[in-house]
Amino acid sequence: MHGNNDSEGLTQAVIEKVSGAADPRVAQTGAALIRHLHAFIRDVRPTQEEWEAGIAFLTDTGHMCDDKRQEFILLSDALGVSMLVDAINHGDDPVATESTVFGPFYHPTEEWPQGADISGTMTGTPLFVSGRVLDNRGNPLAGAVVDVWHADDQGFYDVQMERLEGKDAGRAWFRTDGEGRFHFWTIRPSPYPIPNDGPVGKMLAAQGRHPFRPAHVHFMIQSDGYRKLVTHLFEEGSPYLDSDVVFGVKPSLICEFTEHQGGVAPDNRRMDGEWRSLNHDFILTPLADAA
Ligand code: BEZ
Ligand code: FE
Repeated sequence: MHGNNDSEGLTQAVIEKVSGAADPRVAQTGAALIRHLHAFIRDVRPTQEEWEAGIAFLTDTGHMCDDKRQEFILLSDALGVSMLVDAINHGDDPVATESTVFGPFYHPTEEWPQGADISGTMTGTPLFVSGRVLDNRGNPLAGAVVDVWHADDQGFYDVQMERLEGKDAGRAWFRTDGEGRFHFWTIRPSPYPIPNDGPVGKMLAAQGRHPFRPAHVHFMIQSDGYRKLVTHLFEEGSPYLDSDVVFGVKPSLICEFTEHQGGVAPDNRRMDGEWRSLNHDFILTPLADAA
C-alpha cells in the first residue's frame, strides 16, 4: 500500500502535533512555522537534490559560526529579516531617532573621556563627532551611555584586524555631560562588504547581489528609564545608500559628514588638510511611552 499522499492532511497532522505545547507562544509559533514552511515547499516543489542542497546550506551556515562570526545573523540581515524584526519592535514613537540593524561588529569596550580620539591605529580622514541625547520632549539626558563603533578607510573594523591583537580602535563609549552632550574624534569610515567568504556570500553571488554597506558610524545609546536605541548615522552621498545589502538605511539616518580644509575645529584643535564633522542629536523614548 502506498503512503499518505494527501499533503494537506500531512500539514494538518503536523500542526495538530505542535499546537499542543503548554506554552501558548510555543504552540502559536510552531503552528505558524509549519504552515509557512509547508506552503514554501508546495510553492517551490524542490527535487530531492535541491532539498539536500538546502540542508547543506544551513549546515554550512552553522559550521561558519563561532565566537567571532555569526553567519545566521548575517543570513537574517541579508534576507531583510533583521530589519523586519526591527520594524515590528520599534517605530511607534514618531519623534524618537529611528533604529537600524545591530550588526556583528559590536563588542564591549571602555569608557573614554569627552573629546578623546578613539581612532587608535586606524587610518583615514579625521572626523569630529558631536551631538546630544534628548528625550522625546526635548529634555537633555545627562549621564546617558553613548557606545560607538565603525570601520576604517579600508572598510575594516578593529575586530577584523589580527594585527591589533584585541586593541580597540574606532570603538568607545562616552557618558553625556549635564546638558546631554558628547563629542569625540575618530576617522571617517568607508563603505565595506559584509563578510562574504561563507555561505551568505555564496548566496549573494548566486542572487546577483553585491555585498556592500554604505559608510556609517554605529551608535548604541542607553539611559535608565528609556528604551535602548541601536542605530547608525550614514554618510550623505556614500555609494550604496540605495542598495545597502542588509536594507538598514532609513532617510532620517543619512547625515552630512561636513567637509573642511584646515582651520580650527569645534574643540579649538588647529587642523591641517581635510577633516570632516558630524553633528547629530539622538532622541530616546521613555519606557513608560514604549509600554
Ligand atoms: C554592520 O554594519 O556592522 C553590519 C550589519 C549587518 C551585517 C553585517 C555588518
Ligand atoms: Fe557597520
